[in-house]
Amino acid sequence: MTEMEKSWEKRLAGEPDELTVDFVESLSMDKRLYKYDIVGSIAHAQMLAEQKLITADELKQIKDGLIAISQEIAEGRFTFDKKYEDIHMAIETALVAKIGEAGKKLHTGRSRNDQVATDLRLWIRDRIEILQAKITLLQKAFVKLADGYSEDVMPGYTHLQRAQPVVIASYLLSFVEQLERDFIRLKNCRGLLNISPLGSGAIAGSTLPLDRKSTARQLGFSDIGYSSIDAVGDRDFCAEFTFDCAMTAAHLSRLAEDWIIFSSNEFGFVRIDDAYCTSSSMMPQKRNPDLLELIRAKTGSVYGALVAMLTILKGQPSGYNRDMQEDKGHVFAASDTVEACLDVTRAIVAHTKFNTKQMAARLDEGFLDATALAEYLVRKGVAFREAHGIVGLLVAECEKRGKGLAALALEEFQKHSASIEPDVYEHLGAVRVAGKYVTEGGAGPKQAKEQIAYWNKQLGQR
Ligand code: ARG
Repeated sequence: MTEMEKSWEKRLAGEPDELTVDFVESLSMDKRLYKYDIVGSIAHAQMLAEQKLITADELKQIKDGLIAISQEIAEGRFTFDKKYEDIHMAIETALVAKIGEAGKKLHTGRSRNDQVATDLRLWIRDRIEILQAKITLLQKAFVKLADGYSEDVMPGYTHLQRAQPVVIASYLLSFVEQLERDFIRLKNCRGLLNISPLGSGAIAGSTLPLDRKSTARQLGFSDIGYSSIDAVGDRDFCAEFTFDCAMTAAHLSRLAEDWIIFSSNEFGFVRIDDAYCTSSSMMPQKRNPDLLELIRAKTGSVYGALVAMLTILKGQPSGYNRDMQEDKGHVFAASDTVEACLDVTRAIVAHTKFNTKQMAARLDEGFLDATALAEYLVRKGVAFREAHGIVGLLVAECEKRGKGLAALALEEFQKHSASIEPDVYEHLGAVRVAGKYVTEGGAGPKQAKEQIAYWNKQLGQR
């Protein structure tokens, strides 16, 4: 027998329609799982031998056969035939063709339902490691960039209006924090998904004495799923992983939006290296931030994958349903997209400079020091609400006269509050204010330097 008949088709009369073959196949998508399928099969076969369900010789034939198939696939020598539906059947069929009778014993006590759930958990487990590594590299790039700007002040924005002065480093470190949550979220996701479904069979386990803990141990799972019904029907981890990808994409898209704005002529805050800009086919002067725009847009595709994943789960009857086959496309796409976006973002962060001179020249526009002036009054004994009102009047007056708070004479200040003294000038101007932040986690140079040291240590251990 060169080719195994599909045994389940004994149940059905004749050949499936070509439409059926095309519509039900997932091989074109799930061939990416081949390594995990083979590793899972070897663990399963090992357990079958331990349980005396196959002989040591049969185990050896199965292992050797599977390893040979793995090499053929890796070297592009394997022919994927969609009539075998999915990677599980394609590999099993090839195994039987290669080793004969022993190959037919591999699927003992197993269903593709527990098999695919196992493969997918193993695949995501590895992708999590890769995503975490890419997140760490991006964090390191941010910290390195921040290190060059721990004294340089920029406007901090709320509602995209000038709010309070911040050092550039603290702005950059805010992304390191976001990415740290992404890292931890993936770690938590791994913790929850690292449970073996193998041995659950189609839905109810088996009448054969399978040792589920053995396969779980071999595959590095921390435990087994204790409900066979749930184990084959659970794709929570796919939705959760896709959410984690979506959240990272959201963070990258917010950075992208910032830098698209910051690199405009109107802002002129950052200059992204030419290697990461594109030009226009018509306008010769253009340096466009297309990569950032694509990151922003690709976030939409990742959200799409998340919504699709959740919708696939919604309303499915308990246990395995073929609906679940559709999970892989979304999980793969979300992961691939975010991995690519992380790589590109890291390259951009590593090749961007802040135009500190240009920023400094306009720093004292927009009353970035107004809040600090109100806090100065608080320290002089004025109630904050009253101080807020006094500074509001001062700002309105300055705005009319086209000048900053620091340009007011002492008498002009004192007309509004007798509590204002000559030392007020030490508390005005964006750079001076940034130097005066004392709050832990605040956006001044002192805190930024502490945070850079913290992150260098923390990320250095990864
Ligand atoms: N290709 C299927 C999937 O991805 C494998 C499981 C199919 N099981 C079944 N009984 N039809 O989910």
